[in-house]
Amino acid sequence: MTPALLLTLACSDRGPPPHSEEDPADSPTPAGWQNPAEAEDLDPAAGVLEVRLRAAPQAQQVGELLLDGYAYNGQTPGPTLRARVGDTLVATLDNALDEATTVHWHGLELPYAMDGASWDGGGVAPGAQARVEFALTHAGTFWYHPHLNTDRQVDGGLYGVLIVEDPAEPTPDAELVLVLDDWSAPEAAPAPPPHGGGGSPHGAEGSEGTWAVNGQVQPEIVLDGPAVVRARLVNASNSGVLDLRWEDPRQLASDQGLLPALATPERLILAPGDRAELEWRVGEQGLTVWDHPYSHTGGEALGEPTPLLTLRTAAQGPPPDGLDWPFGGAAPSADPGGSDLVYTFTGDAGTWLINGEAWPDVTWQRIPLGEPRVLELRNLSATQHPFHVHGMAFEVLTVNGVPPPARTVEDTLNLGIRDTVRVLVRPPYAGAWMLHCHILEHAEGGMMTVLEVTE
Ligand code: C2O
Ligand code: CU
Repeated sequence: MTPALLLTLACSDRGPPPHSEEDPADSPTPAGWQNPAEAEDLDPAAGVLEVRLRAAPQAQQVGELLLDGYAYNGQTPGPTLRARVGDTLVATLDNALDEATTVHWHGLELPYAMDGASWDGGGVAPGAQARVEFALTHAGTFWYHPHLNTDRQVDGGLYGVLIVEDPAEPTPDAELVLVLDDWSAPEAAPAPPPHGGGGSPHGAEGSEGTWAVNGQVQPEIVLDGPAVVRARLVNASNSGVLDLRWEDPRQLASDQGLLPALATPERLILAPGDRAELEWRVGEQGLTVWDHPYSHTGGEALGEPTPLLTLRTAAQGPPPDGLDWPFGGAAPSADPGGSDLVYTFTGDAGTWLINGEAWPDVTWQRIPLGEPRVLELRNLSATQHPFHVHGMAFEVLTVNGVPPPARTVEDTLNLGIRDTVRVLVRPPYAGAWMLHCHILEHAEGGMMTVLEVTE
């Protein structure tokens, strides 16, 4: 169900795009800020969301950049898939690229055959189709993206959001789906392949990319009047980390749905692959979300913050009260002590290792289905690594020996430089699950392995 939108959409006044001499058919991004268009549900039955995703080459215009890339159904971000917890998702991928691809469902617990990781096969060939069908067991904000030549395909614009709603949650005045990606000119990149998208249109390590929100740079979003907004944020960048700050911070959810209680973080670090849901109470003062300079090679960096986006209201009035969210209130699990598996993260300059091994020459670790197990993650490198594992959520037990203030369940967690993080898993599905860094250049550079869950 789509909440009624009280939105009038406006684009910041940036003048005409610099590529106006281009054939308009090459300009894929409509002017004006908007939520990504939602996928059409091809199955009228209640409880089933059936969608088609067609991956194809697509020019990308972001701010003043015009780049070769790819898109699902002609749009970047791809269509938002909106379902309710308990629904079945049926998705058919149509591969109109000239290379193989897959769709991976990031953050979902699902049968292994549906995962789209495809590390053990060729993926879906050009011109071919693939169909998946699985139940959506958890509410939250998830995303989908390819998992083959992942750095280049995601970099070119292949990603979209999957929203699984919980009917127990209240309906805000407006909901914003905000897919954040940093883009830069591929100057330093090698020559692109025939369909483009080669090199790295996004900010490579150390370079200063331009952050875009659904493809729009520093959008201004105009609400009809004071409103409570539920914002669903996804960091879809290959390597860019956001450090967001705004007034009256209220965080509702992280990767795996509602938090145990409302959080009021002073800053929100959003690493590649991470999601967060925020409650923005917007009155006549408006609201600006600032992004502070931050690098995965050193954390907080020098420089001035830049606005990521601004919200304003067309009518006067104070900010409304927040909504009554059905937070679970669960207490954190106690650390049982001992480690069942240890993962060390090392490497530099393009060679990235887990336990001293580079993908694909890796040793599989194994744990049993449905049993609690502790994984200890040790980052011994001079770079942060957003740790991600497929097929199972994990609870954070401790970070450098200190338990988090509240129960923290994630599927992607930024490992700080020299951090040791202990997490608890209880894998719900068997399979040879990928475990990797979500800085996609690190994953493609070797920082990827397999955690097998056996019956
Ligand atoms: Cu976002 Cu291995 O995935
Ligand atoms: Cu990494």
